[in-house]
Amino acid sequence: MKLPIVAYGMPVLRKKGVDVDPESEEIRKLIDDMFETMYNASGVGLAAPQVDKSYRLFVIDTTPFADWDELPEEEKEKLRTRKVFINARKIEEKGEEWDFEEGCLSIPGINEKVRRKKQITLEYLDENGVKHVETFDGLMARVIQHEYDHIEGILFTDYLSPLKKRLLKRKLEKISKGEIDVPYKMKFPRRK
Ligand code: NI
Repeated sequence: MKLPIVAYGMPVLRKKGVDVDPESEEIRKLIDDMFETMYNASGVGLAAPQVDKSYRLFVIDTTPFADWDELPEEEKEKLRTRKVFINARKIEEKGEEWDFEEGCLSIPGINEKVRRKKQITLEYLDENGVKHVETFDGLMARVIQHEYDHIEGILFTDYLSPLKKRLLKRKLEKISKGEIDVPYKMKFPRRK
């Protein structure tokens, strides 16, 4: 079932998610629905707060990035995967910082360069409840860092300079009011 994606300005996007039981019926169903919702919106990642659930849960599928010609073959191969992260906790981020233009299904129509470290190490449970401690890098790390931020109540626009934020203010207000064209279902905090 496709779920509506909550838009910028909804309080749930600012909450820290709580841990969940990966074996529960609710979570199993939610994971399926989140993948369906993400694919329908052509996203590469989706976090539970974006579908109005304040949980430490996100899903990713980086397969679309594997088509980028400039990537080395081994990174392409690694990107052809979908993953579920339950109750994730960041252990560390390290490596050189690099810029990448990010977007977010909750903030449609805005894409801005964000600087992040190259690697992230997380502890998490997969969809079978199996615990992993794993390090990711490159584009896969980037997607995970963005989604991990969602379960901490952080949005990529938080990293922009004060000037950039000022320039985007009107656009963000329009998103909150639902004054945008978007090809998937959304919930807006200020729609009249
Ligand atoms: Ni996002």
